[in-house]
Amino acid sequence: MFRRIYLDNSATTPVDSEVLEVMLPFFTEKFGNASSIHFFGQEARSAVDKSRHQVASAINSRPNEIVFTSGGTESNNLAIRGFCEANSKYGNHIITSQIEHPAVKNVCEDLEKRHGVEITYLPVYENGVVKVEDVASAIRPETFLISVMTANNEIGTIQPIAEIGQLVRRQRENGNKIWFHTDAVQSLGKMPVDVEEFNCDMLSLSSHKVYAPKGSGALFVRRGVRLQAQNLGGHQERERRGGTENVANIVAFGKACELASDWKVGVSADLKKIRDRFESLVGESIPDVSINGDREGRLSNISNISFRGVEGEAVLINLDLQGIAVSTGSACSSGSLEPSPIILALGQDETFARGSVRFSFGKQNSLEDVDYVMKHLPKAVENLRRLSGYSAADLK
Ligand SMILES: Cc1ncc(COP(=O)(O)O)c(C=O)c1O
Repeated sequence: MFRRIYLDNSATTPVDSEVLEVMLPFFTEKFGNASSIHFFGQEARSAVDKSRHQVASAINSRPNEIVFTSGGTESNNLAIRGFCEANSKYGNHIITSQIEHPAVKNVCEDLEKRHGVEITYLPVYENGVVKVEDVASAIRPETFLISVMTANNEIGTIQPIAEIGQLVRRQRENGNKIWFHTDAVQSLGKMPVDVEEFNCDMLSLSSHKVYAPKGSGALFVRRGVRLQAQNLGGHQERERRGGTENVANIVAFGKACELASDWKVGVSADLKKIRDRFESLVGESIPDVSINGDREGRLSNISNISFRGVEGEAVLINLDLQGIAVSTGSACSSGSLEPSPIILALGQDETFARGSVRFSFGKQNSLEDVDYVMKHLPKAVENLRRLSGYSAADLK
């Protein structure tokens, strides 16, 4: 029987019914502008304040350290660009990793090209994890910012954030002016995200990865960190981000953060069970596959698999025809299919990188979904391999 199964939860998640319920009144009777002085404005303002507390509590920060934004991309732009503009007297060198999301990578590249900021892109080795020693040895007198993501969006590998935070703290105790940003967009709700444990100065979040609508997010900015606003306008968000607050989305995001604190424990364990069952069935029924990224230090909901001898896009399209939604790490650039830079950063060859597919599970998925996928995936890979003339003997 044909079914539709969504296994692309790292791209976005459906809105949780509890989240939808709390946001709906803010489109109708509670439509005020949070900056207005009258009753309607106060109602909106107090909803935004409540949400600020919920977000802060999910990451163990103070409410006034939360800046609401339009999502993870804006949070990363504000963090990195805003930091560089406000702190140029302290340095001109950023350390980041080779596997950052484009919302960090492209900002760094732009700063490098147009503003003369120097960037070091740290390797991640075969397991997809940055080494703290590499961070330490990349530090120069002019280093003023380190930006390493909490967990990767394609392969789910968890980075040593608390250790990098410790390193930065020690540097600062020794008088070095270095600050630390982490992109935790994929991590909230799947692992503990705690700004005190991480010792980070800035941390990016996005609402649509945690069962709230697209178009909202937040940046944690530790008290005392100087940042140049990128959206100039009104006095909103304590001058750090001008623009009328998206009250309904902010309310939704707050509720989602409250729920995410519970998911951290329960749902993560369920997701891991589903993901691990899927990977063991793939291992048993499909030859010549590689599961990308560290097997232990990964988010519990992501499985990134390379199928040798096939294009990831072809697998994606075949599965889509069977109602199964997955994604590839590949991006279409100027008409040609480029292999995923993340998989290449693991040292995989191009054939494997081109054959990578990301299966990302969400709290709506079940073990039955895995059974359905396994009815179709082995056949799809086998047919594609036959068409491409792939033979395992070619490898020997
Ligand atoms: C790690 C990471 N950072 C940033 C973003 C961008 O977030 P948004 O879609 O809210 O702009 C994403 C989205 O996929 C992501 O996975």
